[in-house]
Amino acid sequence: MSKNPWAQNPWFESVAVAQRRAKKRLPSSVYGALVAGSERGQSTADNEAAFMELGFAPHVAGHRPERSMSTTVMGQDVSLPVIISPTGVQAVHPEGEVAVAKAAASRGTVMSLSNFASKSIEEVTAVAPSTFFQMYWTGDRDVMIQRMQRAHAAGAVGLIATLDWSFSMGRDWGSPEIPEKVDFKTALKFAPQVVRKPRWLKSFATNLPDLTAPNLAAPGEQKGPTFFGAYYEWMTTPPPTWDDVEWMREQWHQLSGKPFMLKGVCRVDDARRAVDAGVTAISVSNHGGNNLDGTPAPIRTLPAIADAVGDEIEVLLDGGIRRGSDVVKAVAMGARAVMIGRAYLWGLAANGEQGVGNVIDILRGGVDSALLGMGLSSIDELSRDHLVIPDGFERRLGSAGPAAVASDVASQATA
Ligand SMILES: Cc1cc2nc3c(=O)[nH]c(=O)nc-3n(C[C@H](O)[C@H](O)[C@H](O)COP(=O)(O)O)c2cc1C
Repeated sequence: MSKNPWAQNPWFESVAVAQRRAKKRLPSSVYGALVAGSERGQSTADNEAAFMELGFAPHVAGHRPERSMSTTVMGQDVSLPVIISPTGVQAVHPEGEVAVAKAAASRGTVMSLSNFASKSIEEVTAVAPSTFFQMYWTGDRDVMIQRMQRAHAAGAVGLIATLDWSFSMGRDWGSPEIPEKVDFKTALKFAPQVVRKPRWLKSFATNLPDLTAPNLAAPGEQKGPTFFGAYYEWMTTPPPTWDDVEWMREQWHQLSGKPFMLKGVCRVDDARRAVDAGVTAISVSNHGGNNLDGTPAPIRTLPAIADAVGDEIEVLLDGGIRRGSDVVKAVAMGARAVMIGRAYLWGLAANGEQGVGNVIDILRGGVDSALLGMGLSSIDELSRDHLVIPDGFERRLGSAGPAAVASDVASQATA
């Protein structure tokens, strides 16, 4: 029987197809770590489901022949309103974050590199000059300054501070087991799931993932701590105050003069504090549902935040983006651009650098077709008027400001 030639076609037409291929290709524990979601997975589910509640109001004729979707994010030109969110992509693909960075650069967008990444900031900036470095609040202040200095010396063009993390332990779906290191003993233990994924194993060939965090290496040391060593440092660091946020922003600014983003904002009052702390940008995010489960989807919390601080700082949306029309919905709701996580990780697992490029191309095509459908020539023309937004969709967290008062007055008037 002849083989179906399409089965060999590495190109995929949607992020959902990339996800199915990632599931097929990766050992179950690696795939499980990508899907993740803490506790019962309420936030992770809402991140995607909320986009399905929003609709469009398309035109039938009078469309524009040309459409534009370029913008800037923290001073970097981007060819579409989508940038790469930081993730530690241990064991997904041998080229890891370097493959992601190459794809981002080739598609004219920004790479963000996690401090838990498997590749060093130097390797990543070598292939993608537009790279933001992301740090958690981990280690003492001297250590944090050293890490910032290293990122600056490597050419990072912005810093992202991710502060939303609650060290939640229990996951109803069962956490994937992550080995301390990959040695002969671990190889034997994981053999049953790995032998069923020969293509994944072959791709790593002589270079099995070493599960260390090179960007957290002490000065002068070649190798970074293991993932568990890094996690221990993080767990034992006292959580940051708003003064700490301001301190970090100031250190980075004094050192580099470059922009600073606070990632993980859900509340209007926090967004306002971020403005007061002098940030360039915030990412409205619930960490892809991997942090405090029950936090609403960022697309629900975005509008109130964008209304409150969108004129003063850049507001990005992060979480649940799976297609170009999701990007358009986020921009129409007030985001300057979006950040993507799982979508590119599935592309990476499915087809390496080309797979990540494939995902970005899918999003670009989707943005273009949504603009065409609505008869718009630029993402700058998008507003909430172009969306069908059901009553009760938004969540105004920590918003006691004029917008909340106005909506109370409106609901009393119609009561
Ligand atoms: C496997 C995985 C690892 C992640 N690692 C980090 C990280 O190291 N730093 C960080 O700021 N966010 C991390 N995140 C969160 C992402 O940056 C992003 O907020 C999230 O994936 C967005 O949701 P989405 O996956 O639905 O696009 C991680 C997410 C996933 C799925």
